[in-house]
Amino acid sequence: MNSFGSFVFLLIFYSCFADELLVHLPNGSVRGTTFSSSNGRTFYAWRGIPYAQPPLGKLRFMPPVKVAPWEGILNATTDRKGCYYVGKPFIKPSAGCSEDCLFVNVYSPEKVDEKTKPNRSVLFWIHGGALEQGSGDFICTDPTPFLEQGLIVVTINYRLTALGFLSTVDDVVLGNAGLKDQQLALVWTRDNIEFFGGNSSDVTIMGESAGGISVGSQLISPKSKGLFKGAIMQGGNSLSDFFKTTKQAKYLTYLLASKIDPRITQANSSLEVKNLLQSAPVEDIIRYANGIKPRFSTVLEVESESSFLTRPVYESMENGDFVRVPTIIGYNSEECLAWYDDINSLKEKGQTLDEDYKKLVPNMPLRDNIDKKEVAAEIKEFYVGKNGSFADDLPAVLRWQSEDRFVRTTYKQAVLQSKYVPVYLYRFSFVGTPSSIHISVPGAGKVGHGADVPFFFNVSRVPLKTEQDFITRQRLVTLWSNFIKTSNPTPDDRPAADILENIVWRAVSPSDVEELDIGDKLVLRKSKKVKELIFWDHIWNTYSYRPYNTF
Ligand SMILES: *[C@@H]1O[C@H](CO)[C@@H](O)[C@H](O)[C@H]1NC(C)=O
Ligand SMILES: *[C@@H]1O[C@H](CO)[C@@H](O)[C@H](O)[C@H]1NC(C)=O
Ligand SMILES: *[C@@H]1O[C@H](CO)[C@@H](O)[C@H](O)[C@H]1NC(C)=O
Ligand SMILES: *[C@@H]1O[C@H](CO)[C@@H](O)[C@H](O)[C@H]1NC(C)=O
Ligand SMILES: *[C@@H]1O[C@H](CO)[C@@H](O)[C@H](O)[C@H]1NC(C)=O
Ligand SMILES: *[C@@H]1O[C@H](CO)[C@@H](O)[C@H](O)[C@H]1NC(C)=O
Ligand SMILES: *[C@@H]1O[C@H](CO)[C@@H](O)[C@H](O)[C@H]1NC(C)=O
Repeated sequence: MNSFGSFVFLLIFYSCFADELLVHLPNGSVRGTTFSSSNGRTFYAWRGIPYAQPPLGKLRFMPPVKVAPWEGILNATTDRKGCYYVGKPFIKPSAGCSEDCLFVNVYSPEKVDEKTKPNRSVLFWIHGGALEQGSGDFICTDPTPFLEQGLIVVTINYRLTALGFLSTVDDVVLGNAGLKDQQLALVWTRDNIEFFGGNSSDVTIMGESAGGISVGSQLISPKSKGLFKGAIMQGGNSLSDFFKTTKQAKYLTYLLASKIDPRITQANSSLEVKNLLQSAPVEDIIRYANGIKPRFSTVLEVESESSFLTRPVYESMENGDFVRVPTIIGYNSEECLAWYDDINSLKEKGQTLDEDYKKLVPNMPLRDNIDKKEVAAEIKEFYVGKNGSFADDLPAVLRWQSEDRFVRTTYKQAVLQSKYVPVYLYRFSFVGTPSSIHISVPGAGKVGHGADVPFFFNVSRVPLKTEQDFITRQRLVTLWSNFIKTSNPTPDDRPAADILENIVWRAVSPSDVEELDIGDKLVLRKSKKVKELIFWDHIWNTYSYRPYNTF
């Protein structure tokens, strides 16, 4: 080929290439990119599409506002900036951080054109990170395993830490802006996904850790009705204890304001505090938020047109007052194992508990005349016996902590929801490359918090390695994709794939809690935690009072 020939070839090549990646959305056009999986398949990606106006200035802390239409073609070819975070994230946003961070990423297994029938099921992923870290970046969530199943995948950024969760607990700064971001991204998905080949009536939301809590919050928000037809919560759910009380939320907001202007006191109005915080440099907000404990998080808002969540969560769940969609919910076999770097730190935790058993009491309002010590003694006895000590029983430290932070709420939600919708409960116990943990405690489970995620997405820092890793991925992704497509992880109108060992994953019934144990094998069995469920029911019913917010 002479140089003119290759020029023409390149021109034709590039224009074809460009065309198939151009998608015309009602509000503007976007150009994407392709990428190849290691087995040579080509996938399509449109990354960094704005779904809300940049939440700057007077929009800081406020509910997100829909993005305005744009002219020309938006290059949706790389991850845009992530939202500001605090602490040390597992993976940092690859393009750095900005307040202008409200973007979605869309992935498709197929090129799209006018003839594409918008019939693909859509997976909408909400990342974790304690509501103060994380992003929807490709390096954390390469969705290749789901694309291979023919799904469209959407990942998002939402505002984090103070920028996403500061509240004055009145109608000045309602709070939960980060959850409202997620909801607006779901609205965007409903309105735009058909142009990528997705079925807008066939969206399933999925999240892990704070992402599971986010999915759980979307389930409770009346405004989410109609935005999704299924929900998946892993290691975090609607009942997880993340809520700030009115008092705590106000305290955090005024504390942050007083760091920026030391003259701020409780006597300053919400409006004064809001104005101060909206005009402060974002770097200051983040720097000071970084040092503040407890973390900024969800609140029950006052009633207003823009509020997301106003009623106690447990009661909503119990009364069927939630978005009634089929659900997968579960936990890893020893979630809190991930908290400890070595045996000594676990021993220290045991000693702290022994020194003050009151630490065992959940964040529950206690009835009048109830002595917290009495409740603590009962919990202590349940876990280590009357004469036992936590320092001498390290598996009990983990058992108590994992149950307190994860298992109890997971079971409770499964049981409550199962009165209204099919709920599939699992326990993930497969010990694979990503579950590599610092400590091993005989008598405790082996899979800590977050170790499930790399089986669903390729996470750059935690690649799968062994054959059994990949078999487990295949099982999980098959079960999850079946659920996303048909609302049932093991539908009987499909030939039972060998990879699923011909199991039938039955839904939980309120009187018969079965769970799928996902380990070296798949085993559906009666819950191992019946005794614990009865015990914790007794603790809540005896010592606390309605309405409950968490459990
Ligand atoms: C287009 O933008 C307008 C104005 O922000 C918004 O109301 C509408 O929902 C958007 N349409 C789509 C399909 O996103
Ligand atoms: C988008 O990318 C193309 C090709 O790299 C480039 O020519 C164009 O200037 C870019 N557009 C914008 C708005 O950045
Ligand atoms: C889209 O999904 C809905 C609900 O899951 C389903 O009823 C409908 O048939 C699907 N549409 C197409 C075009 O596949
Ligand atoms: C979507 O529609 C196309 C074209 O009609 C068809 O070939 C394909 O099987 C359908 N896919 C799904 C998931 O329904
Ligand atoms: C990503 O996942 C796919 C599907 O399981 C796999 O084929 C591929 O090797 C993975 N890529 C990387 C870089 O781990
Ligand atoms: C806080 O209240 C004091 C006393 O009313 C007032 O002087 C000050 O301007 C207020 N601060 C801000 C930032 O509005
Ligand atoms: C607990 O300690 C008390 C007093 O030392 C003793 O009487 C009792 O038998 C012990 N109970 C158990 C279950 O070991």
